[in-house]
Amino acid sequence: MQNFAYYNPTKLVFGKDTVEQLADLIPAKVERILLVYGGGSIKKNGLYDRVLAQVEKRGLHYHELQGVEPNPRLSTVQKGVEICRSEGIEFILAIGGGSVIDCTKAIAAGALYDGDAWDLITKKAPVEAALPFGTILTIAATGSEMNAGSVITNWETKEKYGWGSAYTYPQFSILDPVNTFTVPKNQTIYGIVDMMSHVLETYFNHNENTPLQDKMCESVLKTVMETAPKLLQDLENYELRETILYCGTVALNGTLSVGIRGDWATHNIEHAVSAVYDIPHAGGLAIIFPNWMEHCMNENLQKFVRLGVEVFDVDPAGKTDEEIAKDCIRNIRYFWTSLGAPSRLADYDIDDRNLDLMADKAMANGEFGNFKKLKKEDVLAILRASL
Ligand code: NZQ
Ligand code: ZN
Repeated sequence: MQNFAYYNPTKLVFGKDTVEQLADLIPAKVERILLVYGGGSIKKNGLYDRVLAQVEKRGLHYHELQGVEPNPRLSTVQKGVEICRSEGIEFILAIGGGSVIDCTKAIAAGALYDGDAWDLITKKAPVEAALPFGTILTIAATGSEMNAGSVITNWETKEKYGWGSAYTYPQFSILDPVNTFTVPKNQTIYGIVDMMSHVLETYFNHNENTPLQDKMCESVLKTVMETAPKLLQDLENYELRETILYCGTVALNGTLSVGIRGDWATHNIEHAVSAVYDIPHAGGLAIIFPNWMEHCMNENLQKFVRLGVEVFDVDPAGKTDEEIAKDCIRNIRYFWTSLGAPSRLADYDIDDRNLDLMADKAMANGEFGNFKKLKKEDVLAILRASL
């Protein structure tokens, strides 16, 4: 393992009716808050009304930023920053999925920065403070509810970057599985692929002596794989939603990756693709990840052999390591497509026209990937294989 310090200050409040605790979770001295949410799902399923009841119970003065888009945009962050500054906002409440939470993180940091929030996202300026914020998560996917990361798209320049800071952990996150009952089937599938990808990004590393981390990763993957097919047949099943919701948080709240430097190249490539084509993040991952695996498996074939045998039901009898690794990758692809995830960029009508542009965007900060350092020709090969 690498040396590590692990600190996660987010208070996780998990379970049925936990939204009723909201009034008590917002810090006592706060009087003015901003509610941030997406395109309206929380109004349709009644969560908005339950949140307002809590806000009113506390007698809070509130403003709203609605319409945060999936793959949240800088222009929306800027609107939120403006409201925070002009209305003296003291606390932000994100009600939604990763997009709403990521947008909130950028608003929180941008509000206390004397300049454009894009400077913080592009790391031209360090994040030195942020408004406090809490979240009510409505979809199991990104883990943003219990990490400091955020991903923002500048639609004008077609750039999508991940960033984060010690100041951008939510103070609390409320996770009630019931709030995820209305997540449609396709978004449920995307969430499942995303959380599995977060585990895989962590799993593919070159750190020595990480037996517990490896087994924890394998357990999360197995749990998701046992649960996902049943959940897709029964979207309002509390126990299944509960299991998937907690898996999504654990997959990216730092517990699996202590002492490990995960790869994260696939996420970088996917962000370049969705910056140009605005496709769902995990749709892109389902397509690109197996092709990244094929491109990189010789960096440590044994890791793929172990994953195949431990998690992806590969029978190793009579097979070479390479055959087992290839069967592992085939089974991952098969599992995702059997759920209903896409497997080719063509599924989103993406052809070879912008491959070079996407590769350049992925290379914006030079070579990347900790399992295998990727050069532009590697990225192009992975994208070509994904067509
Ligand atoms: O906007 P509304 O109307 O709320 O609808 C949303 C949206 O259309 C809908 N939805 C969410 N909860 C719902 C619901 N519909 C019905 N009932 C509910 N309870 O689902 C759609 C997708 O929402 P979104 O927030 O975009 O999904 P997700 O949580 O997958 O977030 C994706 C974003 O997070 C970034 C991605 O790049 C993408 O921009 N990521 C953030 C990470 C992080 N901060 O740690 C890590 C990830 O790897 C990822 O890159
Ligand atoms: Zn992701």
